[in-house]
Amino acid sequence: AKQGLQVAIDGPASAGKSTVAKIVAQRFHYIYCDTGAMYRAITWKALQTGTDLGDEAKIADLLAHSEIRFEPGTPTQKVFVDDTEVTLAIRQPDVTNSVSQVSALPAIRKELTSRQRQIAAEGGIVMDGRDIGATVLPNAQVKIFMVASVAERAQRRLKDNAAKGITTPLATLKHEIEERDRKDSTRAVSPLTQATDAIRLDTTSLSIEQVADRIAEIIREKEMQEK
Ligand code: CDP
Ligand code: CDP
Repeated sequence: AKQGLQVAIDGPASAGKSTVAKIVAQRFHYIYCDTGAMYRAITWKALQTGTDLGDEAKIADLLAHSEIRFEPGTPTQKVFVDDTEVTLAIRQPDVTNSVSQVSALPAIRKELTSRQRQIAAEGGIVMDGRDIGATVLPNAQVKIFMVASVAERAQRRLKDNAAKGITTPLATLKHEIEERDRKDSTRAVSPLTQATDAIRLDTTSLSIEQVADRIAEIIREKEMQEK
């Protein structure tokens, strides 16, 4: 276990997964992989090319011919689809509100799961998403299931959006979060579920630092056991 562990962080939208995953990855010198960004990237390309979001074969073909790449960057890593940087574009409301439709397509999940397993194969990785602990990396040594109340998550999203100049009202955000939770939790293929061996972490009244410290502690314990 010299090269590091696999750390899976799952949970609903705005529970704090990516913020904390990045911090934890930095502390341990692990790679960080945002699997949501991969689903957003193919959704962005489908919208961009006017591909019918319900046409599984067409979108699968589009994905087969798309390279989705991460590059280091501050404050967040950059996301590329082929040669286009889409870091900001994939966070826009049009993508956010369509991504659950695309991520429900079995062919898309199959392909992205396979790419994610390749990225994580060597260990030393923090990967966040919806199905990492349950499906993508069932043997991950650390599995966290992060949750927070809908009200708290809507508030967090409001703040995030304000920084990006997006002015969607709080009530709408709350509704959108509930809707995405519902779609992600009820889809047929690998829905959002807590893996049986995942540790549940409610971040509603915890700071980012507190959550990061708690996960770091769990990783350190595991690292000791693996030695
Ligand atoms: O950051 P936010 O919580 O808004 O979501 P995200 O992690 O960027 O994921 C966007 C969407 O991708 C989710 O709502 C899911 O529909 C999908 N997703 C998924 O199906 N499986 C994953 N492992 C990650 C994301
Ligand atoms: O990746 P995910 O959608 O789960 O959430 P995120 O994008 O990491 O976090 C959403 C927002 O909540 C960010 O602005 C974080 O700074 C904030 N946050 C927080 O206020 N308290 C926490 N314990 C975790 C995240």
